[in-house]
Amino acid sequence: MSMTPQRTPLIAGNWKMHCTRAEAEALVTGLKVSVAEVADREVLVAPPFTALAAAARAAQGSAILLGAQDMHWEPKGAYTGAVAPGMLKEVGCTHVIIGHSERRQFFAETNETVNRKVEAAFVHGLVPIMCVGELLAEREAGETMAVLDRQLRNGLKGRDAVDIQRLVVAYEPVWAIGTGKVATPEQAQEAHAYIRQVVQEMFGHAASVGCRILYGGSVKPDNVDELMGEQDIDGALVGGASLQVESFARIARFEA
Ligand code: PGA
Repeated sequence: MSMTPQRTPLIAGNWKMHCTRAEAEALVTGLKVSVAEVADREVLVAPPFTALAAAARAAQGSAILLGAQDMHWEPKGAYTGAVAPGMLKEVGCTHVIIGHSERRQFFAETNETVNRKVEAAFVHGLVPIMCVGELLAEREAGETMAVLDRQLRNGLKGRDAVDIQRLVVAYEPVWAIGTGKVATPEQAQEAHAYIRQVVQEMFGHAASVGCRILYGGSVKPDNVDELMGEQDIDGALVGGASLQVESFARIARFEA
């Protein structure tokens, strides 16, 4: 395995708007058995808010980590519909996905709101999984690296090297999400290496080496091994294939 030893791989399931409490409980209960043997890597699920407590309860006694799919940056206040960092911690979350492309596309998330949320995550001791990635039109126009540059520099503005060693970045080319059209390992590696380079320019070598970069976008049992063989791919953010015990467990058991 070509992976740098100090980066523990992270396989994260983004359930999106799927799973009732009962379904969450069944899925986590199944995963608990199927990933019990998985060592030397982290496995995380990110259910919708309403299923977090049920998932946390089902995950008890296992190493399965819990993340939320979004949060507000304020600790509390008049923000109808929003959920605060402390509320996520109370229910057992250690991680929070921030700036997923669906949040950017459907909920007016910007690099500025991403920046505030990333800061709030660190303030409250949550690990942010900050999502970046280009649209198909941007890739075709040769703008991929410029888009990533902008998302990273704005999203991570104000952070320091200590924060960044705990940060998780998810590279998710928008054209690969939910489409079955996965980036080739070479395309993903190229973007990941670029992301690490930008992080190094911003925060120094140690931070860039410590920071984990996940690939997301149509990760499946039959393509995960190849992706994980790339030097700068430190894990996966999995949507559709995280909703079934067998496929997610197989992804978590990747062999690079
Ligand atoms: P997908 O979603 O695996 O269904 O493509 C990935 C994501 O949006 O995080």
